[in-house]
Amino acid sequence: MQDISYAGKRVVITGAYSGIGAALVTVLRELGADDITALDIREPAGVDRFIETDMGNPVSIDAAAAAIGDGVDVLFNNAGVAATRPAEQVMRVNILGLKRLTERLLPGMRSGGAIVNTASTAGNQWPQNLEVIRQLLAIQGWDEGIAWVHDHMPVIADGYFFSKQAVQVYTMMLSRPAIRQGVRVNSVCPSPVDTPLLPDFRATMTDKVIDWAIAEGAGRVATPRDQAKALAFLGSDLASYVNGVNLLVDGGFTAAMTTGQVDMAALA
Ligand SMILES: NC(=O)c1ccc[n+]([C@@H]2O[C@H](COP(=O)([O-])OP(=O)(O)OC[C@H]3O[C@@H](n4cnc5c(N)ncnc54)[C@H](O)[C@@H]3O)[C@@H](O)[C@H]2O)c1
Repeated sequence: MQDISYAGKRVVITGAYSGIGAALVTVLRELGADDITALDIREPAGVDRFIETDMGNPVSIDAAAAAIGDGVDVLFNNAGVAATRPAEQVMRVNILGLKRLTERLLPGMRSGGAIVNTASTAGNQWPQNLEVIRQLLAIQGWDEGIAWVHDHMPVIADGYFFSKQAVQVYTMMLSRPAIRQGVRVNSVCPSPVDTPLLPDFRATMTDKVIDWAIAEGAGRVATPRDQAKALAFLGSDLASYVNGVNLLVDGGFTAAMTTGQVDMAALA
């Protein structure tokens, strides 16, 4: 069974320095990866090539894309920040930069390749904002995107939930044109994960909400490796007919919520 192998595949990962991205590097190595390029503001360990890149800065993103060039097999858009940062910065890194890098690399990606975004269960409420998200995703220019963000602060709020809703919608919207060139597009949607970002979520969403989400899901917090394994699956040929899917990797939290099994009183 060679379908899970990453040997000979050209892989790009954003946000590989810590947390889920660092665990992904380890998992991909175990699966034979021999060509991993990392884009991050900090230099990750264990990759083949590091391109210092600020995923919130279009000039930096374009320079990285130009340095990478054509022939990418798998792009993992994983970098993200929490709402401990200003909302504009959250939008820049989590969706505007993710979209820009994707648009720069996708035309040159190999048929049979894949794009896998790290979204979040925080984006599960996208149906409430679908039309406004479609407006944002239709914008081409960077400055126009930033201006749109400033004009829509009431719906964007702290940026985190909205940006992850936008990643889920972008995953679905891009999956159709991308598959025409043989590239699949999916996302992983984690619930709370034990990474350096978790204290930031505790600060913005409260300990009570985070601990409740963990308790009502699998009863333990997800590890970065739990998420990395799902990312590796979606990026691999094991997932050869999986396209346009936002894969919940949340220990069952959303399933329990959807079927009315979650103890809402514990939140009161
Ligand atoms: N930890 C959680 O509970 C959780 C839950 C759901 C989704 N996520 C998502 O998982 C992804 C990875 O986060 P994590 O939890 O591993 O946190 P993390 O902070 O450990 O990892 C984030 C990575 O992104 C990099 N990064 C931050 N800003 C950047 C920028 N401007 N340009 C380039 N790289 C930048 C960091 O250096 C780091 O390597 C994020 O998209 C996050 O939103 C995390």
